[in-house]
Amino acid sequence: MFEISVNSKAINVDVEPDTPLLWVLRDTLQLTGTKFGCGVSACGACTVHIDDEPVRSCSITIEDVAGSNITTIEGLAEENLTAVQQAWIDEQVPQCGYCQSGMIMAVSAFLKENPAPSDDEIDNAIDNICRCGTYPRIRKAIHNAAKKQGGQ
Ligand code: FES
Ligand code: FES
Repeated sequence: MFEISVNSKAINVDVEPDTPLLWVLRDTLQLTGTKFGCGVSACGACTVHIDDEPVRSCSITIEDVAGSNITTIEGLAEENLTAVQQAWIDEQVPQCGYCQSGMIMAVSAFLKENPAPSDDEIDNAIDNICRCGTYPRIRKAIHNAAKKQGGQ
């Protein structure tokens, strides 16, 4: 039995110690906003926050995150959408949408580190893969969110 906090709720999960966190989120807790893409930490579709850091949940076990605070896309906003989520709507970023919750989680953590990034800094920091090629709109939305948050 492992105790984790998911979206500010304490939860006990009874799974094998080597179960990937992504499996626990999607299969055990039915939090299906976090997606499976590659399973090998390459695409970023499964990105969540663990203790406020972006982590690829397909490649970390439940044993490794026991006692941690995990935030998924379902728990990112409290009452209102975050600036990043609103910018995603304003710029109509998603195409098929599959990669986008991972993108939003990665970008949300990135903008805390760098509130006013350049295009190069965005390209270097956000290496999530989008099969639909929404990268130009993602960049635009990141600048939009940075402005909303008081960056530029
Ligand atoms: S599914 Fe985790 S990085 Fe691709
Ligand atoms: S919007 Fe389709 S994979 Fe990114």
